[in-house]
Amino acid sequence: MAQYDVVIIGGGPGGYNAAIRAGQLGLKTAIVEGRGKLGGTCLNVGCMPSKALLHASEMYEAATGPEFAKLGIEVKPKLNLVQMMAQKAESVEALTKGVEFLMKKNKVDYVKGWGRIDGAGKVVVKAEDGSETTLETKNIVIATGSEPTPLPGVTIDNKRVVDSTGALSLPEVPKSLVVVGAGVIGLELGSVWKRLGAEVTVVEYLDRILPGTDTEVANAFQKILTKQGFKFSLRAKVTGATASAKGVKLTHEPVAGGEATTIEADYVLVAIGRRPYTQGLGLETVGITPDKRGMIANDHYKTGVDGVWVIGDVTSGPMLAHKAEDEAVACIELIAGKAGHVNYDIIPGVIYTSPEVATVGKTEEDLKAAGVAYKVGKFPFLANSRAKINHETDGFVKVLADAKTDRILGAHAVGPNVGDMIAEICVAMEFGGASEDVARTCHPHPTRSEAFRQAAMGVEGWTMQA
Ligand code: FAD
Ligand code: NAI
Repeated sequence: MAQYDVVIIGGGPGGYNAAIRAGQLGLKTAIVEGRGKLGGTCLNVGCMPSKALLHASEMYEAATGPEFAKLGIEVKPKLNLVQMMAQKAESVEALTKGVEFLMKKNKVDYVKGWGRIDGAGKVVVKAEDGSETTLETKNIVIATGSEPTPLPGVTIDNKRVVDSTGALSLPEVPKSLVVVGAGVIGLELGSVWKRLGAEVTVVEYLDRILPGTDTEVANAFQKILTKQGFKFSLRAKVTGATASAKGVKLTHEPVAGGEATTIEADYVLVAIGRRPYTQGLGLETVGITPDKRGMIANDHYKTGVDGVWVIGDVTSGPMLAHKAEDEAVACIELIAGKAGHVNYDIIPGVIYTSPEVATVGKTEEDLKAAGVAYKVGKFPFLANSRAKINHETDGFVKVLADAKTDRILGAHAVGPNVGDMIAEICVAMEFGGASEDVARTCHPHPTRSEAFRQAAMGVEGWTMQA
């Protein structure tokens, strides 16, 4: 029987990064993955394929819309959806192979099949052909991720009524697409199909889009999306959906009560959140009980059962790949007797639409609720020379700092490339930086990053370029 220091169940960003770090630290490690490919939700049906389609559809829209013409480029683009999907699949394949290479490089055994815990220190892996292998290990790391939350009364057939996985591979551009849930998936994948020609209507239960995001940023973003052609039905409760071979009839009614509305659409995307995935994991054999949502609780990645650890989407915190990755490193370092740590106050969130939305740290609402006195610095992309020259002036940057100490407490932005640029604020925050530190740091000109500097200057009231 194979003997390991660590067996990781799940090959997503949590699992594969844990495996790499464990390999680096000289631990004898195996990673168990059932889907036949490494990379998890993120590489196979999440972050990466969605970004491939966001990039391609953005190019397509730029070429077909007024953007190219404005730049003096006249073209007659034609959509080749089959090729767009093929290049997505090729990139995903290359990435998953890359992760497999990293397993070899770090001397990690990749065990294909579905893993189940079989009492302390044992993981049984069932391969595709039904054969079972038992791995013995000092430590088990659960990194089994998450799956889409179902919507009661609506059956996902992944033909006409799809979840995010279905929406990444529609066989045609819908004339009309209804998205249920104005969250990250709904707005990213809604953007993809809108750019390719669909009419997109978003039905959201709450009175706002992107709950949890800084309200001013979310409201500004909703206006931008509306200008792009998105339609929103807020405060709306979906009561049912009937699919036929041709399309879907979706019924919703006001949350506050009132008359029901029926919308007909070619496709419906249900994106109302994700829930932890622990099916068939044998948690009962070690006495772990997930909570009502299916989540496995942790204290510094310990489940409460000796030698069983948990990281990523299947445990608490934001369901983000980089959060899973950071937990992976911290968890393995703790297993190796080092001081693993994740700073949950500084986990950025990015929505990869056009423009992008990027946030880190506390929102204004958080600070008000906590009674923290803060100052705000803001800068619009309309006044940023690079954004202006590129005709990408929608959006703004907002920096929030402690009123007494000037320490940066959060930053929130909607605008071009803000997803890349938020990393500057993350680093500043990790160093306990003040808004003045960013304001007095020389930034290259002309770049959109200057908007972050100008917003930081605004905290002390000396924004210069607006
Ligand atoms: P997962 O990536 O879900 O990996 C878990 C793996 O475990 C899966 O491959 C599963 O097959 C395997 N598994 C489960 N049970 C077993 C078992 N018993 N035995 C063997 N294997 C098992 N996050 C971002 O940060 N940025 C983004 O841009 C982004 N875009 C996204 C877009 C979409 C459409 C979706 C759906 C998600 C997106 N996410 C994004 C979220 C991101 O994918 C997740 O936060 C991340 O994948 C979580 O990593 P994980 O390792 O915890 O779990
Ligand atoms: P989400 O939590 O981001 O948004 C779900 C939305 O659906 C919310 O606005 C919620 O109020 C709404 N909702 C819930 N129940 C509803 C109902 N019955 N009817 C109508 N609306 C309802 O979840 P989403 O978009 O499914 O994404 C899941 C997770 O995947 C995200 O939370 C994020 O962690 C991750 N993700 C991250 C991405 C990124 O980082 N760029 C991209 C895509 C996904």
